[in-house]
Amino acid sequence: PIETRIEQLLQKMTLEEKVGQMNQYNGFWDVTGPAPEGGSAALKYEHLKKGWVGSMLTVRGVKEVKAVQKIAVEETRLGIPLIIGFDVIHGYKTLSPIPLAEAASWDMEAIKKSAQVAAGEASASGINWTFGPNVDVSRDARWGRVMEGAGEDAFLGSKVAEARVKGFQGETKEDLGLPNTIAACAKHFAAYGFVEAGKEYNLVDIGMPTLYNLVLPPFEAAKNAGVRTFMNSFNTLNGVPATGSKFLQRDILKGKWNFDGFVITDWASIREMINWGFAEDGTEASLKAVEAGADMDMESHLYVYELAKLVWEGKVDEKLIDDAVRRILRVKFELGLFDDPYRYCDEKREQKVIGSKENREAVLDMAKKSIVLLKNDKQLLPLPKTGKRIALIGALAADKTSPLGSWRIASDDETAVSVLEGMQQYTGNRLVYEKGADVTIGSVSFIQEVQINTTDKSSFEAAKKTAQESDIVVMVLGEHGFQTGEARSRTELGLPGVQQELLEEVYKVNPNIVLVLNNGRPLALPWAAKHIPAIVEAWQLGTETGNAVAQVLYGDYNPSGKLPMSFPRNVGQCPIYYNYYATGRPIDKDNNVFWTHYSDVEKTPLWSFGHGLSYTTFEYSEITLDKESYKKGEPVKASVTVKNTGNYDGKEVVQLYVRDVVASLTRPVKELKDFQMISLNKGESKTVEFVLTEKELGFYNSEGEFIVESGKFQIFIGTSSSDTKNSVFHLY
Ligand code: IFM
Repeated sequence: PIETRIEQLLQKMTLEEKVGQMNQYNGFWDVTGPAPEGGSAALKYEHLKKGWVGSMLTVRGVKEVKAVQKIAVEETRLGIPLIIGFDVIHGYKTLSPIPLAEAASWDMEAIKKSAQVAAGEASASGINWTFGPNVDVSRDARWGRVMEGAGEDAFLGSKVAEARVKGFQGETKEDLGLPNTIAACAKHFAAYGFVEAGKEYNLVDIGMPTLYNLVLPPFEAAKNAGVRTFMNSFNTLNGVPATGSKFLQRDILKGKWNFDGFVITDWASIREMINWGFAEDGTEASLKAVEAGADMDMESHLYVYELAKLVWEGKVDEKLIDDAVRRILRVKFELGLFDDPYRYCDEKREQKVIGSKENREAVLDMAKKSIVLLKNDKQLLPLPKTGKRIALIGALAADKTSPLGSWRIASDDETAVSVLEGMQQYTGNRLVYEKGADVTIGSVSFIQEVQINTTDKSSFEAAKKTAQESDIVVMVLGEHGFQTGEARSRTELGLPGVQQELLEEVYKVNPNIVLVLNNGRPLALPWAAKHIPAIVEAWQLGTETGNAVAQVLYGDYNPSGKLPMSFPRNVGQCPIYYNYYATGRPIDKDNNVFWTHYSDVEKTPLWSFGHGLSYTTFEYSEITLDKESYKKGEPVKASVTVKNTGNYDGKEVVQLYVRDVVASLTRPVKELKDFQMISLNKGESKTVEFVLTEKELGFYNSEGEFIVESGKFQIFIGTSSSDTKNSVFHLY
């Protein structure tokens, strides 16, 4: 058994070798070339040979992984294999849509499949551990990393977390030992999505009910799905850096949840506790991190120098080190690395799997399912397939890099199918492309601030002329793929640069516009929402972007996506979310100003959580409940009948929300508690039944206890958080 093998190995290890397992290095050097001379690469290489490194990140490709693994296995005293980590966030080489877009599909099977494809390619390339899924709930579109999560809701986020973990790791613990699965990592533990004002690397100051009811559930869902690692986060939580938080890592994760995998720090986050003013120096930072339960040091270069000393000086109990090492070895054993350290290093498999036809098909399917139809007045969509002149405008329409999105370290620039290429495959119309304006200037990369074109409008006239001469205009506008992601917080949420002006200028000459949005976060587009007849949210959809967009625009795929985050009317509304609190003054009863609102903008979002149209229409019946009042613990059965009343076959995500009307803590006006996706042919009806248990009716109090309280509940079932049928029941 694994536990016996762990203990036997631990007995043989020196303290330095144990600490070595807790050290992870980034591998930015030519690992297949000659031994590095001088600098940090040489030092890392020396440490590798001594057995002072337990893991490497960013080394990828069978040749490279084999090279570093060989040092660990053949040149160190105990030959303990490395665990090779990598940010496989939405695919490896063949890219799926960005995670926020995938969440918009509300299709857990598709999301799981997408993670399987990613794991298949990454593992074929020597990788055995991904730093994903990101399960940070976030309500603030200013924060660039919303593109990596599943949006603003804890229930949807928990479902997505589970699907992704199972996609990466397989259904059971045993599946982790298969060569095409990889260990997953729930990150960032915890509350990173609540950084103040959406500003990156900022503090988080939230109440305990928010922590327990909104932040932690997706992490717990990931844990229950068997996730083998957690990553802590850059932020503080109520004054304590997450990396140094015993409350989060020991009390909740390893205590209450009984998690037996390991915690990796975020990049240099142990060292950053010095900048936060939480530790005097590297020694104190290491002491606080290890005591708090951070098991592996990613690139702080501290544990490797500090921990053994701290044990010898009697400041750290060696038991803490043993506990961390056991956890790390456990995951290595489960991955099968001790049985064959080169099991992920098969060059033939690497050749065959990466970029395969099946993988392209899977990400195309995911991309189509991720698209959200926000508006379709005058039935402008789907586009007619013949006899029209169509103007395609916007630099992003021809871009083959931006649609890949952020966090795509292993995939190359220019490898996406552009919208232009996708639309060119429909040859029945005459398609004329004009860029209209550049979105960015200069080179654009993951590690540089993106420069936006705010002045050059020299291509406007050509675009306007083409638009004027066309029957329909398709405009692809939005953010460049590297305008979201880590360190990409923004204070403006409109179309970057001169794109808004371009849109308005083109509208003057031809208002028949289909606006296709490319973005990694909700944007604030009040003018477009008012004037543009058809708007399609196409995010950054990965390798198959253009094919997916074209198939949706031409009606070969009927969109069914629903927003996983509310879209604000302007930045001042942020953070805006559907599950807000009523407050003491929820409405304007006396027609005066003294109620909760902003005086210069409507209270509602532009598009709410759960919103998304189809080319067909659906009609909902009233809600039927099997009773009016229920005893605690008794199942509450609610149903609605949904009819496809339009002209196309289609899919609908039927959403159920609940409100606990009076409780010992104020509760949100509604919370998503279940959803079902149904397919309905033209004219078809289906009855959808939901069963609510205590799990859906209770909540966490400030002490983290789950409680269910009797009283009145409202129930809402509908097509979005803002368009539902409503009913009530009582719990006694
Ligand atoms: O996994 C990431 C994390 O999300 C942000 N900091 C760096 C890590 C490794 O690349």
